[in-house]
Amino acid sequence: MMHYPVMLQEVLEALQAKDGEIYVDGTFGNGGYSEAILKSSSCRVVGLDQDPNVKLRASELTKEYDRRFELIETPFSKMDTVLGSEKVDAVVLDIGVSSMQLDQAERGFSFMREGPLDMRMSVSGPTASDAVNNLSEKDMIRIFQIYGEEKRARRAAQSIVHARENGKILTTGELAGIIEKALGRTGKIHPATRVFQALRIFINDELGELYRGLIAAEKILKPGGRLIVVSFHSLEDRMVKKFVRRRSERPSKGSRYMPLTEEDDFHPSFQVSQRSAILPAATELTENVRSRSARLRWAIRTSAPAFNQDESLMPKAPQIHDYRWAA
Ligand SMILES: C[S@@+](CC[C@H](N)C(=O)[O-])C[C@H]1O[C@@H](n2cnc3c(N)ncnc32)[C@H](O)[C@@H]1O
Repeated sequence: MMHYPVMLQEVLEALQAKDGEIYVDGTFGNGGYSEAILKSSSCRVVGLDQDPNVKLRASELTKEYDRRFELIETPFSKMDTVLGSEKVDAVVLDIGVSSMQLDQAERGFSFMREGPLDMRMSVSGPTASDAVNNLSEKDMIRIFQIYGEEKRARRAAQSIVHARENGKILTTGELAGIIEKALGRTGKIHPATRVFQALRIFINDELGELYRGLIAAEKILKPGGRLIVVSFHSLEDRMVKKFVRRRSERPSKGSRYMPLTEEDDFHPSFQVSQRSAILPAATELTENVRSRSARLRWAIRTSAPAFNQDESLMPKAPQIHDYRWAA
């Protein structure tokens, strides 16, 4: 299936591309955003993606747009390092997994397609199979509860622990079957949906990436530059919302989230024009079901210095870096 760029018109409107400017498309994917941005003005786009499989598509854009486009294979959390001292006019992020990744059975993202239980966007590090075969029941419960918002997390985790006593769980089909048997089929959505989502977020450290990506974007945006984020998960949207709020509003007295020690020194590093997230238009919702959970937020960088990190933005959930069972 072709990847349909979600909320593209809204992204272009927030971006207001101009000739000569430089933009970072931090989640290149199938290049839908990059190409539309390159077409809309004589600007430069630096595409980032941690998935080496996007190279072919990127080379088409390099051919067509020559020096106006380049791809760097990197997680977007490193955008400040890979760009060196270059400052940019916008950073656009379209978080999550692409339709191409979901469609390739051998990537192991989908419970609908039989394949190895992999789920790694960057094709390196521990796999989802390593996770379900090694994590404790307690950690799996928290991962399913927090990243998957799965109400029956305990039952799902118990069924995995029970099943792995008879041998390793190696494929998407095996895991989907285990979860389906444990949770049963009730509504329209497959019972393994939330468990698969939770494992994908955990394996790819998606919330850690978003957190570090926002911090990095704050460092590389020029004054007047735009931060534009499309997210698909309530935890991600909450993180973006809190991030821009804390960077744009003076903290109330006694706030435990105050990013600076001296309240009087608060200089907002972002300006936000909209209070609530922008949602996809009705036409897009009918054309593309994947856009259903999309939320867009954007903010304008001021000339104030970047704040320090703010770890309290991260949800308190197990993180992949805390485990040492990489294959
Ligand atoms: C939803 S798709 C982006 C689609 C793109 N906007 C388009 O129009 O074609 C997300 C892409 O971002 C990549 N990605 C996700 N998280 C990433 C991260 N932390 N760093 C770099 N790339 C990431 C994925 O590999 C995937 O290719």
